[in-house]
Amino acid sequence: PTSSHPIFSQEEVTKHRSLEDGVWVTYKGGVYDITEFVAMHPGGNKILLAAGGPLEPFWALYAVHNQEHVLEILSEYKVGEL
Ligand code: HEM
Repeated sequence: PTSSHPIFSQEEVTKHRSLEDGVWVTYKGGVYDITEFVAMHPGGNKILLAAGGPLEPFWALYAVHNQEHVLEILSEYKVGEL
């Protein structure tokens, strides 16, 4: 579906890699502000390893994310596209 979300550069995403500056990640071309989710993550602070970059390498290692309900959670935090 078409999205009214803004386009962000990788440079902009990379600026958001702490709870202070906000925690953004990318996944399949989408940009997500997961700052509010960090404290709720079942896997704890490991999630911060992906801050400012792509989820794919981490989710390839932790296959627990390969579930529809995980993508549903992620989708709630979408703020734009790369
Ligand atoms: C577990 C979401 C990023 C490591 C989970 C679970 C959810 C979740 C919902 C529980 C899944 C289940 O048991 O059904 C997310 C979301 C992420 C994210 C929405 C990004 C926005 C990461 C990253 C890492 C990670 C980047 C590692 C660097 C883990 C680990 C568990 C886990 C190790 C298993 C925890 C346990 O059961 O003891 N995550 N995750 N996650 N996540 Fe994440």
